[in-house]
Amino acid sequence: MPTEPENAPSNPPARSGVGLRRRALLSAGAVLAAGVGAAVGEVADGDRSSGRSDATTGAPPPEAPIPFHGARQAGLTHPQLPATKLLAFDLPQASAAADREALRALLTAWTGTLAATAGPTPDPRLRTDDGAPRLTSLVGLGPALATRLALVAPAGLADLPAFPGDRLDPARSGGDVLLQLCAADHWTLAVVAELATTAARSAGATPRWAQSGFLPRTAPGATPRNLLGFKDGTANPDEEAARQWVWGPTGPHENATVLVYRRIRMDTAAFAALPEERQNLVMGRRAGDGAPLTGTAEHDEPDLYAKHPDGAYVIPATAHVRLTGPRLDGGARMLRRGYSYDDGPGDGGLLFCAFMRDPAQFTRVQNRLAERDALNPFVEHTASAVAYVLPGAPEGTTLGSHLWA
Ligand code: HEM
Repeated sequence: MPTEPENAPSNPPARSGVGLRRRALLSAGAVLAAGVGAAVGEVADGDRSSGRSDATTGAPPPEAPIPFHGARQAGLTHPQLPATKLLAFDLPQASAAADREALRALLTAWTGTLAATAGPTPDPRLRTDDGAPRLTSLVGLGPALATRLALVAPAGLADLPAFPGDRLDPARSGGDVLLQLCAADHWTLAVVAELATTAARSAGATPRWAQSGFLPRTAPGATPRNLLGFKDGTANPDEEAARQWVWGPTGPHENATVLVYRRIRMDTAAFAALPEERQNLVMGRRAGDGAPLTGTAEHDEPDLYAKHPDGAYVIPATAHVRLTGPRLDGGARMLRRGYSYDDGPGDGGLLFCAFMRDPAQFTRVQNRLAERDALNPFVEHTASAVAYVLPGAPEGTTLGSHLWA
């Protein structure tokens, strides 16, 4: 089991927080985070990254908490924190009226619990020596729940179709309500997950599945790698593209989006056994620097038309980057904020977490991948969920209050 970055003793929270933030602000994958995340948590961080310290003690200033309240949920807009835990719950499904009450109680309780972690918390386990725990969260509702309760949800919200090659475990998939917690360390995740689960049970919900994930320690300004060794998260939409493809249209969903989650087991050993040149052809990018095979730098645009003198495409027809690129899809882009997971020997891989206005975007791409992605011999989709990620709760309001209007 690899040491997770947030547990490394040489990685104190203040340093890792600044590093991640700077990385996210610099990477093109976080153009969106720079535009939106700056609004939710970066102001106080400016002081920290400038190296300012407590004048009397010389100690670094305490970590600024990440506000829970805001137009969009912080788990979408804040630069990715290095550890995650996803939790899914089911409501009792006795009657629509009872489930409405349960959902309302759950969202009220979670607003209280999650907002409290951004301030002085009465739970001693969340008291740290260097400020409030750094935590973000996002809450989403499953398509079946939205239908059962006739909720005001995005038009395209629906479960995904079955794809060729899927090996989905229903016990790890779906759910009425989904909570994603992200934090600087597993301690915070464990404590807040427990508090959220207790609140959910009190509202009548039952835990369905939970899944932990992590990111590697990554140099400031760099994109994190996945367990195949490739930089993952390079080609994400900027704010303008996100307005069109990630956030809902003007109206009740403009600060909302849809999460598509896939737990994808990877045969990392078999992939690692390929010569690096072969690996690069599978992906269409170079493992070393993340640059497309047609470019020299990570953020160069892949040239899908470039050919070798013998007429073969430089980025092969089955390369992952060709099949997932927006060119094949009318410019459509999704915001990927994936994590790696390791659940024991032979069960590690990618927690694919992508946000989009309409889950049909995922379906179109996954249909192409399932048919001919060169990655297919190395990956197996083992769980799946879709969730309508609610708009944020501005100060003084409760998550999902628009649902009852
Ligand atoms: C274990 C499975 C997967 C791995 C290891 C993987 C890895 C990667 C890597 C390394 C890149 C290139 C760097 C980047 O832009 O982030 C990439 C790009 C991308 N992937 Fe995946 N991916 C996986 C599954 C998927 C799935 C299931 C989808 C959606 C159905 C997807 C959609 C995308 C998209 C949209 C891009 C950006 C393409 C572009 O705009 O150039 N990936 N992926």
